[in-house]
Amino acid sequence: MTDTLTPVLTDDWDAERSWTLATYESRGGYGALKKALTMPQDDIITAVKDSGLRGRGGAGFPTGMKWSFIPQDNPKPKYLVVNADESEPGTCKDIPLMMATPHTLVEGVIISSFAIRANHAFIYIRGEVLHVIRRVQAAVAEAYAAGHLGKNIHGSGYDLDVVVHAGAGAYICGEETALLEGLEGRRGQPRLRPPFPAVAGLYASPTVINNVESIASVPSIIANGADWFASMGTEKSKGYGIFSLSGHVERPGQYEAPLGITLRELIDLAGGMRHGHRLKFWTPGGSSTPLLTDEHLDVPLDFEAMAGVGTMLGTRAIQLFDETTCVVRAVLRWTEFYKHESCGKCTPCREGTWWLVQTLAALEQGQGSEGDLDLLLDQCENILGRSFCALGDGATSPISSSIQFFRDEYLAHLTGGGCPFDPAASTVWAPSLTKAGA
Ligand SMILES: Cc1cc2nc3c(=O)[nH]c(=O)nc-3n(C[C@H](O)[C@H](O)[C@H](O)COP(=O)(O)O)c2cc1C
Ligand code: SF4
Repeated sequence: MTDTLTPVLTDDWDAERSWTLATYESRGGYGALKKALTMPQDDIITAVKDSGLRGRGGAGFPTGMKWSFIPQDNPKPKYLVVNADESEPGTCKDIPLMMATPHTLVEGVIISSFAIRANHAFIYIRGEVLHVIRRVQAAVAEAYAAGHLGKNIHGSGYDLDVVVHAGAGAYICGEETALLEGLEGRRGQPRLRPPFPAVAGLYASPTVINNVESIASVPSIIANGADWFASMGTEKSKGYGIFSLSGHVERPGQYEAPLGITLRELIDLAGGMRHGHRLKFWTPGGSSTPLLTDEHLDVPLDFEAMAGVGTMLGTRAIQLFDETTCVVRAVLRWTEFYKHESCGKCTPCREGTWWLVQTLAALEQGQGSEGDLDLLLDQCENILGRSFCALGDGATSPISSSIQFFRDEYLAHLTGGGCPFDPAASTVWAPSLTKAGA
């Protein structure tokens, strides 16, 4: 068993009534806010820059740098928008964080808004998770009642209002500009950039959009200092992060560890692969990140090393599949998701994801020919880099990477006239069977 966990965001998750203000404050909560309110706002931005915090929503853009792009000479209001849409298959860290300790996020929102001189902040939460929306709303109400929000916060002269907004349930609304469209009351479709949100975002005003985990990390940086945060992780991927393990491990769940931990260490912490089985393939950061195999167990889980093996760290949503899982079937399921969630704005993604499903579904049923693998790759090539937003690119990742590593398994479907796997053997793809105890 390794001893590499660094519980910071998850430290209070097992506390009695961890979601309440009383519990949060009894464990030092809102201390960072009081400190931040005494600091020059630019010093807060510098601290976040120096910490090396990179966006936890997938792309890894440096958070402090993003904040410094807000033009302070622009007379328009500035806005902070928290992206809590969390809808990518496998991604499941922001929702537990908001359920367990919503005040970590609320405190982060106040400090971050203060730093960028915003007097209005929005938390945009995926619409389906009504229980989470209610919990964050209750935390915001508690923060108002305690004087952490509202007018003249703790006598500082700083005012902030926070709106908790429920999305209507679309994966594309996690894309930051589609999210802004949704927040303004329009259909959630991405915007053309430039202008970037930092210049013309919400209501055409300067806007910072950050992931829940990015903003929730800010109080710990202010409380403990940039050097403390930067002492964890790797040279260019600093700090800690929540790694979400799902699938065929003994103890799936959230494991908070420094960036750079390896999958081998995480599986060890999770009690190993399920008994009697071995790892076959995995996603490092949700379904949009090219999948990897057991060859990659010792590659550090940081932005650079993941790029070095042709994938991305993404949201650290690690989905693990053992040898009972048909990779073609898994990829087909993901591709059906992308087809369903394509917003329809651009042709390569709207039409392309439909064609990907047709070609893959036929292959999965053992129909077609070896040439269809090249057809699939050709379809991917015509979507990747030609789509309006990253949803289209993400749709191609599982397909091209699975053909790279498991070409023989695709061919086995053709030679065998169908899927060679027994669906009852997999707990992932036969939920009705497992519910019945099969
Ligand atoms: C289709 C799609 C869905 C996305 N969903 C989310 C999401 O649910 N949460 C999130 O934080 N970022 C999501 N992103 C990334 C955001 O566009 C953006 O990069 C992120 O919110 C920036 O925050 P960060 O810098 O703190 O990571 C998504 C991107 C795409 C293309
Ligand atoms: S890539 Fe897909 S989701 Fe993105 S704009 Fe085009 S159709 Fe919409």
